[in-house]
Amino acid sequence: MTKIEIKQLLEIAEEEKQNNIIDLFGTEPNRIDNFSIDSKEIYLDYSKNQLTFNTYNKLISLCDDSYFKNSIRKMYDGEKINHTENRKVLHYLLRSHEKQLSAHVETEKRLIKKQLAQMSDLVSEIRSRNALNRDRKLFSNILVIGIGGSHLGPELVSEALLDYHVEPFNMKFLVNADPTEFRTTIEKLNAKKTLVIVISKSMATDETILNLKAIKEWFMSQGIKNIDIGNHVITVSNNKTLDSVGIKPFKMLSFGDWVGGRYSLWSSVGLPIALQIGFDNFIKLLDGAANIDQIFLNNDIKNNIPKILALIAFWNSRCLGKSSYAVMPYDARLKLLPQYLQQLEMESNGKSINSDGQDILGNSAPLTWGGIGTSSQHAVFQFLHQSTHKIPVDFIVAMDSSTAYPDLQRNQIANCIAQSEALMIGNKKRVNKMKEPHKFLSGNVPSNTIIIKKLDPFSLGSLLAIYEHKTFFLSLLFSINAFDQWGVEDGKLLAKRITSDIKNKKISPHDPSTEKLISMFIKSNGQ
Ligand code: F6P
Repeated sequence: MTKIEIKQLLEIAEEEKQNNIIDLFGTEPNRIDNFSIDSKEIYLDYSKNQLTFNTYNKLISLCDDSYFKNSIRKMYDGEKINHTENRKVLHYLLRSHEKQLSAHVETEKRLIKKQLAQMSDLVSEIRSRNALNRDRKLFSNILVIGIGGSHLGPELVSEALLDYHVEPFNMKFLVNADPTEFRTTIEKLNAKKTLVIVISKSMATDETILNLKAIKEWFMSQGIKNIDIGNHVITVSNNKTLDSVGIKPFKMLSFGDWVGGRYSLWSSVGLPIALQIGFDNFIKLLDGAANIDQIFLNNDIKNNIPKILALIAFWNSRCLGKSSYAVMPYDARLKLLPQYLQQLEMESNGKSINSDGQDILGNSAPLTWGGIGTSSQHAVFQFLHQSTHKIPVDFIVAMDSSTAYPDLQRNQIANCIAQSEALMIGNKKRVNKMKEPHKFLSGNVPSNTIIIKKLDPFSLGSLLAIYEHKTFFLSLLFSINAFDQWGVEDGKLLAKRITSDIKNKKISPHDPSTEKLISMFIKSNGQ
């Protein structure tokens, strides 16, 4: 987007900030039709935003620029759009159908086919309890070790599709290298019946390797011989081994370096998901995402949920100056969604330099936060209703009608809808600000509502792909490379140095505050 266009938009935004969202329904009688998209699985209502139809059309026309079309095409054609890591970005290919293929990505597609077949075989092998550990004991427990993108997707989807579990395993996730998390995760596990799935694209992530080393010791303490440990271990990585830990896993699944960690649940990284919901359901998850890939690629913007969500996020953040937004799923199955989206969106677009290496002026992509409704209503919603900040919200709710507890489900849906209304209208009709200022809610808080008609593998795949493409399109609006994460790397290097300071009881040069903290730890811990 050129500077002129941004300048105009910012001027318009200053005027639009004076508007009351609720009044726009009066001045724009077709607002609901204009500001909603009804796809088979998902309905998006974005009418409760502080945006007039007129300005919306201006925003849309800005996207009618060859830059956007070309940038998307480059990804689908397998160009190395992650230019700072010199990598292609092909996670969408993991779920694509043959007919959509670009000739440029044939090699990768063949590899994906092979990897998917290996995964399918492994799922059948484990599920049919064949030829696993030496004693032919059954694996009833699965312990998944991984962090970030190697954890959040698998746990989110495994939990969200609880209703699709087939003869489920007792599945645990070991994420942080944390003594308490480690102890409480393994304490009820029978080591002989435990299968460990180590997921790490790099197989070099500190937390994952430390946890694996601790698990190795735990196995031995539970009477499993060193030589037999590999019979309990599967790795999923970008072709990396566990030689440094001295384990020879009985199976190693891989995925391409063109799949970023936070986009990887569709690859072999999804093994824990496929084990819980079965391989056929895993394919339905991929199909749901593939359906959105097609919509993202082919639909005009007004019928394109990912693009619209990105455009609204851009408007709220860059033009209206809102620096965060909240994701509020009203469904316990989606408990991990806010955390998952935090990684997806913030690791992708949490940047202040654009693809040309220039500073981004003004707000870039917003901070993502959130929690589950309705407990969030009893915790953080006070802030949403009455603070000086007007933070936009994405409300997400599933309308499945098949629940055995209709009263409970009605409560979820009613509250979700009520909150979006209350945030928008406030209570100025009922409360006199002069008389009772403490009770006054000014309203005018923007929100989107996303309704999942039935939470199943296909619709969940769709929902997650919607947010993936939203993230990508938003990165294009800000001209950001969404696929690197250099910000995380620096902290990792410092942590290594401080670990060695503590181990050697010799503090290397840091700032005075940091040196004091390290010395306090050395003194208290004696290590
Ligand atoms: O900390 C950043 C990060 O590199 C994420 O992008 C990634 O998902 C996570 O660490 C885990 O990395 P790996 O899969 O290589 O263990």
